Amino acid sequence: MDIRLDAINHFYGKTEILKDITIDIPSGKIVCLVGPSGCGKSTLLRFAGGLEKPTSGRVLQLGEPPEGCLNTLTYVFQDFALLPWRSVRGNISLVLEDHGIRGTKADAIITDVLARTRLTDFDKALPKQLSGGMKQRVAIARALAVNPAVLLMDEPLSALDSQTRELLMDDLVTLWTRTPFTALYVTHNLAEAVRLGHRVVVLSRRPGRIREIVEIDKPLAERGYADADLEIIQKHLWDLMRDEARAAEEELIDV
Ligand SMILES: Nc1ncnc2c1ncn2[C@@H]1O[C@H](COP(=O)(O)OP(=O)(O)OP(=O)(O)O)[C@@H](O)[C@H]1O
Ligand SMILES: [Mg+2]
Repeated sequence: MDIRLDAINHFYGKTEILKDITIDIPSGKIVCLVGPSGCGKSTLLRFAGGLEKPTSGRVLQLGEPPEGCLNTLTYVFQDFALLPWRSVRGNISLVLEDHGIRGTKADAIITDVLARTRLTDFDKALPKQLSGGMKQRVAIARALAVNPAVLLMDEPLSALDSQTRELLMDDLVTLWTRTPFTALYVTHNLAEAVRLGHRVVVLSRRPGRIREIVEIDKPLAERGYADADLEIIQKHLWDLMRDEARAAEEELIDV
């Protein structure tokens, strides 16, 4: 299933937040959304997931969701949102229970997503026993358990230190390469965007408009740390963002 954010405009009160945003998220691709703080990235993700409605414009679901899809649009949050009293397995089984899936069927799904996120040996661990990177892997495993049509990821790595972030980027590349998933991935980290995005959408400062949509052809599995090809694209993205980010940074806040 593809998702299209179609001609989205949004106001909060009199403040214009987003202006004429059209973005396609094709099945099996990762679309990264970058832009200065406050430009409306998280707002756009809430619209994509149907948590809120834009002032005008639509979110279109084109085609059928994947087989076994329990929740078409599934979020992965920055703060992991795990239940502290439930084990790794228990956190994942909870979302399946919500869909009436228990017993051997649930076990098979959980075993699969734990293997895909390299968490098989940690299924009985409690969240407090896990590092930040592992917690986010559990949150990703939990999101994958419902086989979503599109993963909606709002800065999923930004609570992690830079080394852990690198490891998680490698994990996401491996995960996608084995079984491509579809994602709208918000980040303000351009290195992350060029490492993970098949397409990078650059938004201007508020009201967020599309500055440019950059396609990155290089296969994810061939992209690496300190990759010269990616650095060129990253520099181009920064050239687009720099003035916007500076202006956003220096904007006075309404009180
Ligand atoms: N519920 C709301 N009511 C009023 N204004 C809001 C609301 N949610 C967000 N805003 C405003 O809308 C603008 C866009 O917010 P949003 O959180 O989408 O930006 P963002 O690009 O995700 O920023 P950041 O990079 O800091 O996460 C901001 O100016 C924010 O203050
Ligand atoms: Mg945000």
